Amino acid sequence: MEGAGYTRWIQIRTRVENDAVVIEVEDNGVGMDEATRQRLFEPFFTTKDADRGTGLGLSIIYAIVRNHDGESDVESEQGVGTTFRVMLPTFRDR
Ligand SMILES: Nc1ncnc2c1ncn2[C@@H]1O[C@H](COP(=O)(O)OP(=O)(O)OP(=O)(O)O)[C@@H](O)[C@H]1O
Ligand SMILES: [Mg+2]
Repeated sequence: MEGAGYTRWIQIRTRVENDAVVIEVEDNGVGMDEATRQRLFEPFFTTKDADRGTGLGLSIIYAIVRNHDGESDVESEQGVGTTFRVMLPTFRDR
């Protein structure tokens, strides 16, 4: 089923797992090296040309997830693809 015959694909999955909503975004793009992976969530960090990326996309996502007491992680392999995972708790003690 993965990719369903498309050359380039992004698959978005959601599910409820214990007390969290899990959202996964997987692609079969270029992937990233370890140095990029470590700086992903840094504001203004981008590997794109200046007129193409601001480097703000993932730092904004990181802030939103943190503000909801969530967690995120990423798995990536160069030349294979990347999976981002966000977990948002469905219950909060405040
Ligand atoms: N799905 C992905 N596959 C490979 N590399 C990625 C992926 N998502 C992010 N990256 C890497 O992380 C960097 C930072 O991502 P981020 O979304 O914060 O900024 P951007 O995409 O460069 O710019 P913006 O989102 O502001 O347009 C990217 O420049 C790229 O190197
Ligand atoms: Mg981006």
